[in-house]
Amino acid sequence: MEQTELVKPETLDDLIKTLHNIFESDCINVEEVQDVMEAYESKPQEWMKFAKFDQYRYTRNLVDEGNGKFNLMILCWGEGHGSIHDHTNSHCFMKMLQGQLKETLFAWPDSKSHGDMVQKSQRILQENKVAYINDSLGLHRVENVSHTECAVSLHLYSPPFQSCQTFDQRTGHRNTVKMTFWSKYGERTPFETTISQENN
Ligand SMILES: [Fe+2]
Repeated sequence: MEQTELVKPETLDDLIKTLHNIFESDCINVEEVQDVMEAYESKPQEWMKFAKFDQYRYTRNLVDEGNGKFNLMILCWGEGHGSIHDHTNSHCFMKMLQGQLKETLFAWPDSKSHGDMVQKSQRILQENKVAYINDSLGLHRVENVSHTECAVSLHLYSPPFQSCQTFDQRTGHRNTVKMTFWSKYGERTPFETTISQENN
């Protein structure tokens, strides 16, 4: 597959334009997407308007719908917020814009097993770094383990999805949850009457 030379996106808008170009193709080069997202240097003034926090859980804030090819969103993590979840057969790219997040990789629990889910690896994602996962690599828990700092991350999911599964670490029990947005394009979305759960 053809890969064009990496041009460093100077702004978040530049990055979004580049992502639109890349995702025009139906064949996605994971490394290319990862590289271009990593090349953008986070500047808070460019993404501040999307970064809306909630006291009780992390928030998902839609930034761009990628011509239907991907969803780009900013997640805002207060201290201790996180979840274990899958990615509904999509690609998931996650770039740190501010602070740090801990990513723990888990194996899929099989239906017969009980008890603790099996951990495969763990790492701390530093500012500007990009992590990638899909369902064939397993599940992950992403969490802000800091007791003093919030964290902000930029996520790209392709194709976009509307629900995913969350998992209980002690039992492997799963729940299907609908994805909701706290805000879209910088505007708070109307209050949802359905109970919003920990999700992606
Ligand atoms: Fe995820």
